[in-house]
Amino acid sequence: MTVRAVIAGVGHYLPERVVENAEFEKTLDTSDEWIRTRSGIERRHFAAVGETTSMMGTAAAKNALADAGIEASDVDAVIVATSTPDLTFPSVATMIQSELGMRTGFAFDVQAVCAGFIYALSNANALIVSGQANRVLVIGAETFSRIMDWTDRSTCVLFGDGAGALLLEAQEGAGTADDRGILSSDLNSDGTYRDMLYVDGGVSTTGTAGKLRMQGNPLFRQAVSKLASTATAALEKAGVDPEQIDWIVPHQANIRIIEGTAKKLGLSMDKVVVTVQDHGNTSAASIPLAFSVGKERGQIKKGDICVAEAIGGGLAWGAVVLRV
Ligand code: UT7
Repeated sequence: MTVRAVIAGVGHYLPERVVENAEFEKTLDTSDEWIRTRSGIERRHFAAVGETTSMMGTAAAKNALADAGIEASDVDAVIVATSTPDLTFPSVATMIQSELGMRTGFAFDVQAVCAGFIYALSNANALIVSGQANRVLVIGAETFSRIMDWTDRSTCVLFGDGAGALLLEAQEGAGTADDRGILSSDLNSDGTYRDMLYVDGGVSTTGTAGKLRMQGNPLFRQAVSKLASTATAALEKAGVDPEQIDWIVPHQANIRIIEGTAKKLGLSMDKVVVTVQDHGNTSAASIPLAFSVGKERGQIKKGDICVAEAIGGGLAWGAVVLRV
């Protein structure tokens, strides 16, 4: 018997405030046209004053639990992928655990920036496959609006806030690619690229949270090749051919990266879940948000093969192949 980590529920949360590209024209030398054509972004959500990463993550988690019809008390572990925690510690995951009313199990954060949700999914899968947990809530939640430099037009127009969650559950499989659940994962990082995308503050340096800095164009070039290669590696590990893919659920940083990666994998854009126009780049929240929205739209259905892939600061990148 093979144990598989199967998706039992999906949910998301987006803050109420929506900011259209045109808003930035009032304060920056930019245009709706530039943002749209260079990134595919049309609008993004920003958290309200006082609205935190843990609040948004809790809302997404509650929606995933409701979707699964499972009580929080029946969950063994909570993993939160985030780079924008409420506090330096305790973890956002323990805050959400307490908001959900869970007094048992364990909770921790994973920090791999925009690749965080892929890393969290891979960790959750390992916990389930090794028998350490039967049900794991995997959440991606970010308030990147809090680390934007609002005078830097090359970054502040690209990011947004939000949260998404998947509830994974141990189920028996046959050990083949016909099984439901996570079929493979592929994780990578290379810290020599640290200057390509980073935040210029932190606990042991400035003592402040800092602001996001990015070398957009060099990162763009790394992204397409690394995303295609990690997706290909994960597909090989899963024993799945690219033509068997029903949906790519990519990190939503830039429509041109999403299109370039799909092209390299030989897939047309009608097999890609795209939300970047409405959410912008929500870092670790972007994949579970796209997953939840894709399910809501009727795109992703039970039995579909999905490939999730992401790259971000580190650089850290990776992919997960799963059957819904
Ligand atoms: O989530 C983690 C992963 N993130 C990514 O993978 C992001 C990767 N990078 C990108 O998505 C793209 O590189 C950007 C969207 C950030 C930029 O697009 P680009 O086609 O690489 O443009 P560029 O950086 O080469 O800039 C082109 C021009 C520059 O002007 P000059 O030097 O040609 O005169 C920029 O100064 O566009 C200018 N520019 C802007 N103009 C209007 C940069 N930002 C803006 C702006 N509005 N907001």
